[in-house]
Amino acid sequence: MESALDFHTARALLDWQIELGATEAICDAPIDRYALDPAPKPTAPPAAKTPVPPAAAPEADPVAEARRAAEGAADLAGLQAAMAAFEHCELKRGARNLVFADGNADARVMIIGEAPGRDEDLQGKPFVGRAGQLLDKMLAAIGLARHAQAADHAVYITNVLPWRPPQNRDPKPEEIAMLLPFLERHVALVDPALVVLMGNTSCQAGLGRRGITRLRGNWTQAYGRPALPMFHPAALLRNPHNKRYAWADLLELQARLESDT
Ligand code: URA
Repeated sequence: MESALDFHTARALLDWQIELGATEAICDAPIDRYALDPAPKPTAPPAAKTPVPPAAAPEADPVAEARRAAEGAADLAGLQAAMAAFEHCELKRGARNLVFADGNADARVMIIGEAPGRDEDLQGKPFVGRAGQLLDKMLAAIGLARHAQAADHAVYITNVLPWRPPQNRDPKPEEIAMLLPFLERHVALVDPALVVLMGNTSCQAGLGRRGITRLRGNWTQAYGRPALPMFHPAALLRNPHNKRYAWADLLELQARLESDT
């Protein structure tokens, strides 16, 4: 299309429009911009999500967890499996084996010791080290043995803790409390006529108190049945002069077994 303007006039007009802020050359024919496809809107980058901190998981209550697991065990094999699956006790990480029990589960007497030592941890059985050998001799002296066939002459043996504490340190009160539901279920499943509480840790778990020197030899109740506290065989190895008290307590146990038949 021929322009009516000369070059210089047209140039001056353009310069003037640019000065006014025009940024685009206008075509000869008008463009209906409403008829055009809308230009795709630049997509804003997805707003970075403000990280929502995960809802704090409620702290597991190890005692409640132990109780739930123990109560779900229908028999001794189930209880052993539930204890093996229990992950709340740090002792488990340092132990080689779960030390569950030994002896005849039909026995009238259930002996409850403290915790596995080195030999028990290696073999996965309670009272197999020096203290265990002494215990076997003590029991034999009153006609009892862990593997006797007859329930009247047999014993069943377990511990308050199923895992060895490092360096055989004393069990902590929170460890005893955490594992007590398993022990209570253990006693209920075996259902012995009598229990023997060997040493202070066993008295702590069964009676809620310590002081074996005063407690020993006196019948009391633990786990809903008659219980006799006695010196722990390991304590007798350290203090042999206490063996006379242990002998008196063994005779007391024997007499109770005979009178209750
Ligand atoms: N002492 C315990 O109390 N239990 C064991 O099994 C061995 C030593």
